[in-house]
Amino acid sequence: AIERTLSIIKPDATRRNLTGKINAKFEEAGLRIVAQKRIHLTKDQAGKFYEVHKERPFYDELCSFMASEPVVAQVLEGERAIAKNREVMGATNPANAADGTIRKEFALSVGENSVHGSDAPETAAQEISFFFAGLEIVG
Ligand code: CMP
Repeated sequence: AIERTLSIIKPDATRRNLTGKINAKFEEAGLRIVAQKRIHLTKDQAGKFYEVHKERPFYDELCSFMASEPVVAQVLEGERAIAKNREVMGATNPANAADGTIRKEFALSVGENSVHGSDAPETAAQEISFFFAGLEIVG
């Protein structure tokens, strides 16, 4: 089925001017970028987005990092978009990421891992609505 998923190009990647190279990976995999914006999150906004990780030891570091520099939030659309995006991203820790994946090629560490992608249909819907109004998504 055609799905939509929320993707974020993280500060370590926007800082290194990798937005286009990462978008090329998505498009080569058949994912369409149907919404996209560059924004600089506040730490509070990052905290809200990652609220599910609130009790984790890395939560504060994660929120500071995500608010440190601009990110690019985007909606990717395509057949099995949620799983496909996760394949293209590779494992969370770049040390475990497969060859050819975004995290293998670009990520610096488990924290500065270049991209975020929704992990399930429910979280995708929730995360898309965190960043985008319906009218901003043009399929
Ligand atoms: P992401 O898919 O954005 O979802 C939660 C993020 O927490 C994850 O990617 C990692 O970047 C980050 N994360 C996971 N484990 C750690 C860790 N041990 N230290 C710092 N950040 C982490």
